[in-house]
Amino acid sequence: MSNLEMVPKGLDGVVVDKTELSRVDGTNGVLVYRGYNIDEVAQCSFEEICYLFLYGDLPNIEQLKKIDKRLKAERSLPKAVWDFVANAPKNEHPMAVLRTAVSMLSGYMLNVDDLSSDVLLRHAIALTSKVSTISAAISRARQGLFAVEPSFDLSHAANYLYMSTGEIPQDVVAKTLDMALVLHADHGFNASTFTARVVTSSLSDMVSAVTAAIGSLKGPLHGGANTAVMEMLIEIGSLENVENWVNQTLQQKRKIMGFGHRVYKTIDPRAKHLKRMSKEWGERAGNVKWFLMSEKIEDMMQSFKHLNANVDFYSASTYYAMGIEPEMFTAIFAVARTIGWTSHIIEQLVDNRIMRPEAAYAGPENKMFVPIEKRS
Ligand code: ACO
Repeated sequence: MSNLEMVPKGLDGVVVDKTELSRVDGTNGVLVYRGYNIDEVAQCSFEEICYLFLYGDLPNIEQLKKIDKRLKAERSLPKAVWDFVANAPKNEHPMAVLRTAVSMLSGYMLNVDDLSSDVLLRHAIALTSKVSTISAAISRARQGLFAVEPSFDLSHAANYLYMSTGEIPQDVVAKTLDMALVLHADHGFNASTFTARVVTSSLSDMVSAVTAAIGSLKGPLHGGANTAVMEMLIEIGSLENVENWVNQTLQQKRKIMGFGHRVYKTIDPRAKHLKRMSKEWGERAGNVKWFLMSEKIEDMMQSFKHLNANVDFYSASTYYAMGIEPEMFTAIFAVARTIGWTSHIIEQLVDNRIMRPEAAYAGPENKMFVPIEKRS
C-alpha cells in the first residue's frame, strides 16, 4: 500500500493527544464527563458542569454559588457588540454573526494574550457567559426586536430564554434547555474542539480559538446538522410522506441529517435523552407530529443503513416544540459547547506542543521551470 492510500482521511481513528475532560466510548455508546457518566450528570445544572470542567470535579453548594456568581457577573456585553448584533444583516447566518461578535470581544477583554491559568479561567467564564448573551441578542435582532439586557438572578439556561423572549421562562422550559446544554457541553476531540486546540497550540489567545471553533461548529456535518434536521422535517411535512422521502433520499445517495457519527457505532447516549425530551415536548405542545416523524426516520435509518441518530437529530424537534426558530439551533449548541472549548484550550496549554501534522504530497514532481515571458 502506498503512503497516499494509508492517509487517514478526516483523521479517522487517529489519537492526537490525551484529555481528562470527556471520554467517548463509541462501541458501547458511553459518554463520560471527567469520570461521571452522562446519564447521571444529565440531571446536573449547566453551572455544575461548568465547575466540573474548569475545576476538575463537581462543586459543593458553596463552590456552585461562587461559579454561578462569576458567570452572572460576566453576562454584559460591550456596547459595540450589542450594536454590531443589532445592525448585522438580517439574512446573515446566526453562527456567522456570533463568530464575528465573539471575535470583537477580544478588544474589550483584559490581557487577552496572557495565557496564565488564572487569566485563562477568567476568560473561560467570561466567554461562556457572553456567548449566551450574544446568541440571545442575535435571536432578538432576527425578529426585529430590541435586545434584552441580561438578568443577574436567573440561571444560565433561564437567562438565555429570558434574553431571547423578553419573558421569564416557566421552570419546565428552563429545565429542558438546561439539560440540553449539559448534554452538548463537551464531546472529546470533535471538529470544533479540535479546531480550538489547534489554534491554541500556536499559543494564540482564547478568543481566537473560540472564534475558530464557532466557524467549525457552523458546518452541517457538525453542529449545523440540528438546523438541517428541522428543515428536513418541515420539507417532508407529514408522517405519511416520511417513507417515500427517506427511500428517495437514500436512493439518490444523499445523506440524512442527524444520522451517523465518526465515533459512535451504536446509539449516541445523548440522543436517548433528547428523544425522551422530544416526545415530552411534543406532548406538551399538543403536537407530536415532529416526534413521530423523527421516530419513523430513525427506524428506517436503522433498518436500511444501520445508522443511529446523533445528538443533533432529536434536539431539533425538541427545540422546535419549545418555540425556538430552527436557524438559532446551532447558536444554542455554541452556548453549551463554549465551556467545552474553553476547558480544552486550558488543558491544551498545560502541556502544549504545536499541532503540525504532515501531508502526503500528491502533486506533480520535476516540472521544468519556464520564465514568465516564455510561458504560453
Ligand atoms: N445519511 C446517509 N448515509 C450516511 C449518513 C447519513 N447521515 N452518514 C453516513 N452515511 C454513510 C455514508 O454515505 C458512507 O457510506 P458509503 O461508505 O457507502 O460511502 C458511510 O455512511 C460513512 O459515512 P462518512 O460520511 O464517511 O462518515 P464520517 O465518519 O466521515 O462522517 C458524519 C460522520 C459527518 C457525522 C456523517 O455521518 C454525516 O455526514 N452525518 C450527517 C450530518 C450530521 O448529522 N452531522 C452531525 C454529527 S454529530 C455532531 O457533530 C454534533
